[in-house]
Amino acid sequence: MILYLHIPFCDSKCPYCAFTSYTNKTALKEAYARAILEQLEFEIEKFHAPIIESVFIGGGTPSVFSPKLLKPFMQRLTPLLSGKAEMTTEANPNSASPEWLFGMRELGFNRISFGVQSFDDKKLKFLGRAHSSREAKEAVLNAKKAGFENISIDLIYGAKPDTKKLLENDIKTASALPINHLSAYSLTLEEKTPFFDRKDAAKESLYMAKFIVKALKNEGFSQYEVSNFSRGYECFHNKRYWAHDSYMGVGCSAVGFDGNRRFYPSSDLEEYIKMPLFQKVEVLSEEDLRLERLFLALRSNLGISLERFSQESQDKIDALISEKKVYIKDDRLYSNDYFLADEIALFLS
Ligand SMILES: C[S@@+](CC[C@H](N)C(=O)[O-])C[C@H]1O[C@@H](n2cnc3c(N)ncnc32)[C@H](O)[C@@H]1O
Ligand code: SF4
Repeated sequence: MILYLHIPFCDSKCPYCAFTSYTNKTALKEAYARAILEQLEFEIEKFHAPIIESVFIGGGTPSVFSPKLLKPFMQRLTPLLSGKAEMTTEANPNSASPEWLFGMRELGFNRISFGVQSFDDKKLKFLGRAHSSREAKEAVLNAKKAGFENISIDLIYGAKPDTKKLLENDIKTASALPINHLSAYSLTLEEKTPFFDRKDAAKESLYMAKFIVKALKNEGFSQYEVSNFSRGYECFHNKRYWAHDSYMGVGCSAVGFDGNRRFYPSSDLEEYIKMPLFQKVEVLSEEDLRLERLFLALRSNLGISLERFSQESQDKIDALISEKKVYIKDDRLYSNDYFLADEIALFLS
């Protein structure tokens, strides 16, 4: 089993971001720490006290939530953790102080993922980020000093200021840092965000994506999912999502999944704190599950067992093989180009 915990607090709101996060509710952090503990107890019972192989704290901004407030949650979790659990926390460069980093190491975190987005100060300003390029580099080095074994950074591409030179510099700078993982996301103009009304904020990005794949390959990173690259360490937690495994979701707006149902706690902070055990339940049909499995599998190097396909799909698979869009290895089907995965999945569905 894997567990996701959501921290819905941020120092400031980035104009492209649609994730659940509040910038003006700092006073609710302690009540939130109590609510997540209550929900954790409920989830442990619901999932029959499973062994937990990975914990991922995301946000929002986990680095504005103190290790002290997280301690009771982690103490409750510890007896369930497998010996070699991957323990990831996200962090923002401006709030991941050395004290916070050491505090998280003490709680058992061994992997950190920084939202860097770019190493270009003008692009950072355009994206409304609260940190500079220098602070981002320092944060990564501080994480290394604090003893994090696995360090990842997120970059965003396809934003208005992007040029080939800028992206080249982002990748060169990232590669020189002690990181073994990188996520590169194409800027999405999300509904209900300030960027949604600024259609010029994003640029056509497929050619940038292909450029990034090549440039990262030269720096020793291999692509193992549409947006994810590893230099020796693939994220176990994300791979479990892509394999369509069950997961516990704890916190305001943190979705959970038990194999055929999704659980949705409230995304309103006050409501969540009042009723942390309340969840909307969505029952997925066999067809929903089949499609999800197919889409997730082809977007990553996990691939999908040929047993999942009916006899009628065989002609389509043969056609895709002859066009070199997919290949078969050890009775599993893999896509050759993750950027085409959705189209391939649609064709096969
Ligand atoms: C939810 S954020 C949390 C991390 C952290 N708060 C931060 O911003 O540094 C996780 C990652 O999602 C990506 N992201 C968020 N909104 C996005 C958007 N509209 N388009 C592309 N990537 C996005 C960013 O790369 C970000 O680092
Ligand atoms: S991108 Fe990160 S820091 Fe910015 S608002 Fe979203 S969660 Fe907060």
